[in-house]
Amino acid sequence: MPAPANPPRVIGHRGARSTAPENTLAGLRQAVAEGASWVEFDVKLTSDGHPVLIHDETVDRTTNGKGKVAEMSLADIRALDAGGWFGRRFAGEKVPTLDEALELMSGLAMGFNLEIKPCPGREVETAKVALERVRALWPSFRATPVISSFQHASLAAARDAVPGLPRGLLAERLPADWKKLAEELGCSFIHPGTRALTREEVAAVKAAGYPMLVWTVNEPARARELTAWGVDSIITDSPAAILAALQ
Ligand code: G3P
Ligand code: MG
Repeated sequence: MPAPANPPRVIGHRGARSTAPENTLAGLRQAVAEGASWVEFDVKLTSDGHPVLIHDETVDRTTNGKGKVAEMSLADIRALDAGGWFGRRFAGEKVPTLDEALELMSGLAMGFNLEIKPCPGREVETAKVALERVRALWPSFRATPVISSFQHASLAAARDAVPGLPRGLLAERLPADWKKLAEELGCSFIHPGTRALTREEVAAVKAAGYPMLVWTVNEPARARELTAWGVDSIITDSPAAILAALQ
């Protein structure tokens, strides 16, 4: 059984999305350079079943290629440049495999929130494969990660695959039945979006004893407000700025 997860106040979103291409190894390193000790990243499966770090259903926005992730093999995806679109100095960055990301993060003594972001229809398979890689590769002496998803089928599959790894219930907006869902899916963290999040909602979640990781907060004043309300961790594109705001 892993140690309880203890995410820090500030977590880099897709690495450090404001200053480095999202979901790349350069982005994970950038988060550390900005002082973050944890990152959030998104995992999908290639057509041949390999877990890779990418957010969208297509590679169009974040690489120099075109096409659906679910229809591209690992070799297809690895041939793309995932950094040049963001800035010339990032040209040559690849879409990382989950294995590469885990190896880098362990080497840097980082922690992470892995978001299972399945292509439609692959909710269970993506969770199973990603959890199996974490179980096999993530050293027990490193920080216990949090596994999150918007997809309830993925959370259930993650629970069944590696029950001991803590899970976070992701939602654009805190659902009215969040507690029932968390209990059903065995989620011990709650991850609402912050656009409409209220002080009363934070108080209710905290009173029930659940840690809250909220996203995506890039405004220092909002980060301070949410922290004052009792939110535990802020997921941000700009870790340096939000760490400075919360000093
Ligand atoms: O996990 C928090 C956040 O990343 C969820 O939204 O679309 O940025 O993956 P998205
Ligand atoms: Mg995400």
